[in-house]
Amino acid sequence: MVKTPFGTLADGTEVSSWFLENGGTRLKVLSWGGVVQSLEIPDRHGRHANVCLGFDGIEDYVASTPYFGALIGRYGNRIGKGRFTLDGTAHQVDVNDGANSLHGGATGFDKQVWDVEPFTAGSDVGLHLFRTSADGEMGYPGTLEVKVTYTLTERGEWRIDYEATTSRATVVNLTSHVYWNLAGESSGTIEGHELTIAAGRYTPTDSGLIPTGELADVSGTPFDFREPKAIGRDLRAGHLQQLRAKGYDHNWVLDKGVTAEPVQVATLRDPGSGRTLKIATDQPGLQFYSGNFLDGTLVGTGGRAYRQGDALCLETQGFPDSPNQPAFPSTVLRPGQTYRTTTIHTFDA
Ligand code: BGC
Repeated sequence: MVKTPFGTLADGTEVSSWFLENGGTRLKVLSWGGVVQSLEIPDRHGRHANVCLGFDGIEDYVASTPYFGALIGRYGNRIGKGRFTLDGTAHQVDVNDGANSLHGGATGFDKQVWDVEPFTAGSDVGLHLFRTSADGEMGYPGTLEVKVTYTLTERGEWRIDYEATTSRATVVNLTSHVYWNLAGESSGTIEGHELTIAAGRYTPTDSGLIPTGELADVSGTPFDFREPKAIGRDLRAGHLQQLRAKGYDHNWVLDKGVTAEPVQVATLRDPGSGRTLKIATDQPGLQFYSGNFLDGTLVGTGGRAYRQGDALCLETQGFPDSPNQPAFPSTVLRPGQTYRTTTIHTFDA
């Protein structure tokens, strides 16, 4: 594991970059936002490529909000109007996406510096990332003590373990916002990637991308990814849900539901390189976002501009807006409880 200086924030805080490697996977992580700046894996001929979007410099991470590679908290995806009521108390969290709150507010966990501690455990190498989110940060109740662990196993898997405790009842929904392009960062569109999601339902949204509460059947719609399907195949089908989101930007209701252990729920494959990503999670939802808001205005680590559909996100999560949707699996955390969730990324070619 190698630690190098990455940059300095306006207030003088130093941001570090950590490099770790195991089982053929190479990972670069920043103390800023817990960002995965790059993740290199081999193709079927053993040639490595970085398969994640990212920026070269700290200034771009500070100035822009595509959430490239970042840890998301306290609440992944949206909370309608940034409002919810918990145990009879109304809370207003930061509104940063039209009328709604997105990814924890304007200075969510992606825009904070984390304490990073490297570790080795048997054949595993990894990083523990810590931060304390003060009571009231971005409007959320309770002091939240957060620990996220990134582990690279000897088989090259990248595992994320999230843990949090709170001093007051609150809501928590942590996730990782890596943008994948298995053909390689800066290589163009992901429309040829094949995606499989083990979900017979998804949560349709209103025009502000807040779930309506319905769990809609994917059968006969562009949202059916139960068999491997090229992302581009139905991307322009013109379904009202796609028109609202400019593509796919929805939460899939994983058939397995909440599970005690991670269960494999999605496979992403680039036929060209053979690179395959499998995702296992204990969470009930998966947000598939087809990079709809990338608009050619940001230049990434490869020195080229990112355009719509140049990468996609697969975010394991509780459902968006759960604090306002009693029928959705709960995202409430109370004092004395520990929020614990795991997502495992397995690579193959
Ligand atoms: C959301 C998108 C949002 C994007 C930000 C995704 O997780 O679902 O709606 O625009 O993050 O880059």
